[in-house]
Amino acid sequence: MDSPIVEMDATQWQGLQARPEWTAALEAGKVLFFPRLGFELSAEEKALLREDMLKPGKRNVSLGADGVLHNAAGSAAEQQALATMIGRFRAQALQLVHDLLPAYRGLLRVAPTSFRPKQVEVRAQSVRADDQRVHVDAFPSRPTYGERILRVFTNVNPHGVPRVWRVGDSFEAIARKFLPQAKPYRLWQARLLNAVHATKSLRSEYDHLMLQLHDLMKFDEDYQKNGTLVTIPFPPGSVWVCFSDQATHAVMSGQFMMEQTLYLPPGREADPHSSPLAILTRLMGRPLAGVGAGVAR
Ligand code: SIN
Ligand code: FE
Repeated sequence: MDSPIVEMDATQWQGLQARPEWTAALEAGKVLFFPRLGFELSAEEKALLREDMLKPGKRNVSLGADGVLHNAAGSAAEQQALATMIGRFRAQALQLVHDLLPAYRGLLRVAPTSFRPKQVEVRAQSVRADDQRVHVDAFPSRPTYGERILRVFTNVNPHGVPRVWRVGDSFEAIARKFLPQAKPYRLWQARLLNAVHATKSLRSEYDHLMLQLHDLMKFDEDYQKNGTLVTIPFPPGSVWVCFSDQATHAVMSGQFMMEQTLYLPPGREADPHSSPLAILTRLMGRPLAGVGAGVAR
């Protein structure tokens, strides 16, 4: 297996001279790793690196595009400082992506920015929600129709603790391995889910298959143990970027991370043939992402 990680030299969030091979590497499902690019925190911000900045029962603090902070605990002053810190990360992540991936300029839609103060390895979760199991990202309630999930991560742990991921198998390899076990798409089921508002729009066959891959991977104990994956510790003061709907990944341990999601419309990759939608379409031999694509079943 080619290395799933491409190491980058950048030490600054801005001013990168983009090379087309970086976009190509991301679109091949690789992780761009910036070991020398850190997010700087003030002393006041370091004091916010506490698990109790998160409301009980919530997974992440998030900052909406409108500047409104969700799921944060702490005093009003602390929440204000937290919003400022997350907002600065968002600005820097957007700058980085702007310079790094010129092919996507003007195309990306900015999702809320998250701050994740929980310790990964002590979280108790169902198999399906457990990101310690290798998976590709797919969301049950929000169909994407092939819209891409690009993510920028930074480890801000103040105690030198890395965020440890496993990454590896190509999307095509996992699609070939797991598609034969996937349940067939049923338009009536998608309609029912939509009618009861379990989904925000009609789930397409593409979204159905992505969820099947997500679940089949997570539930396969043999794959979890023996898949072709490498373990990579992302140290504090580093950044990594990937298409998380394509790069197979699991987070094994760590605490205190920020993450920015950006959505790229379907088919707007530099090489649309490399996308999960294109790969699944080739393997299935029919269109998958139209509304009710294919024959009504
Ligand atoms: C994930 O997307 O699986 C979670 C990544 C992380 O929390 O490091
Ligand atoms: Fe994930």
